[in-house]
Amino acid sequence: MLDRFSVVYPLMIHGMDANDSDETGERAAGAGDRVGGGTGGCTGTVDVDRTDTGYRDWLKEAVRKVQADANRSADTHLLRFPLPESWGIDLYLKDESTHPTGSLKHRLARSLFLYGLCNGWIRPGKPVIEASSGSTAVSEAYFAGLVGVPFVAVLPRTTAHEKQRLIEFHGGQCHLVDDPRTVYEVSARLAAETGGHYMDQFTYAERATDWRGNNNIAESMFQQLRRERYPDPAWIVATAGTGGTSATIARYVRYMQHDTRICVADPENSCFFDGWLTGDRSVSCDRGSRIEGIGRPRMEPSFVPGAIDRMMKVPDAASVAAVRALDTAIGRKAGGSTGTGLWSAFKIIAEMVAAGRTGSVVTLICDPGDRYLDKYYSDAWLAAQGLDIAPYAAAIDAFLADGSWPD
Ligand SMILES: Cc1ncc(COP(=O)(O)O)c(C=O)c1O
Repeated sequence: MLDRFSVVYPLMIHGMDANDSDETGERAAGAGDRVGGGTGGCTGTVDVDRTDTGYRDWLKEAVRKVQADANRSADTHLLRFPLPESWGIDLYLKDESTHPTGSLKHRLARSLFLYGLCNGWIRPGKPVIEASSGSTAVSEAYFAGLVGVPFVAVLPRTTAHEKQRLIEFHGGQCHLVDDPRTVYEVSARLAAETGGHYMDQFTYAERATDWRGNNNIAESMFQQLRRERYPDPAWIVATAGTGGTSATIARYVRYMQHDTRICVADPENSCFFDGWLTGDRSVSCDRGSRIEGIGRPRMEPSFVPGAIDRMMKVPDAASVAAVRALDTAIGRKAGGSTGTGLWSAFKIIAEMVAAGRTGSVVTLICDPGDRYLDKYYSDAWLAAQGLDIAPYAAAIDAFLADGSWPD
């Protein structure tokens, strides 16, 4: 009988060295592989077994820790933004700032860790590296700590100091770059140099997330709307960093056959709007986005344009005015990307008011404003950026009073 563990020797396959790995972290054949069979065997079967029971025990425990964390967590709230009763329109904010790591990226980081672990990409003792504008890295630093692997965030130097502090608080390291467009290549290089795993949220966000359900953000929203007077929102407004959140919501809505339409609000200095409009995925732009977490210098692979019904290009000053209006209305400070989505939601509601339509609209509180007190809540920062929010603040005041819109 053929003993499949009987022959053990280093292999060369496809001309790769034993320690070569491709960009997905796949391993080439090498030392440690148990190879059985070959020319001497009667069946001609070549059998390679890479079972590593020590690693599998580690993996099982790592997955358990991530799942247990989810099991201990509660769902995020769906808050109401007060609008005049006579409009017959309800505006909701899915408050993702209440996750343990303070942003909608907590969901993504959990999904990316489970995806990377179950794919065999995240290995004991090897660092996880990520390109981020901060929020994802804060959440990933938390999950890396939970699983017990080192974590390095590659961030633009302009990233809010509070987010850098939080990454380090959770045990991660920050690697700052001057040009935001280089975060991808620097991350890939660091992963290659350290034998670590480049998580690459911008590629994997849309596929690591379970878009059909599993209490993803869309399923949670629809569950929470069940007892509302308009349980099927006319519109859900999202923003795009990886594009993963909008892809998950849009796919879920289509899969569940809701009539809800999806709008993505894009800030200045971002490519998503142009790429969506023209169908050209190769668009790029020179400057980094001032609205942290959203707006990218390239069309990220995780952005799924075909699933998006509508997009708006929102001035950065409008995003800041909207996020300050949120604070006035419900007493909550949020990050700039929340304002980008809220401004678009206001515009959509103004159209509904003008058309005499009733219904509901949902957008997101993406992360908390206390990360950006020296940016979106600082008049000195606004002045330094040359941003005048006064006309947009006046437009919001007028809209909230009588439903009018300046366009
Ligand atoms: C604060 C904030 N808002 C919105 C987004 C957009 O989410 P997504 O990456 O799913 O497109 C991000 C992404 O990093 C973010 O950090």
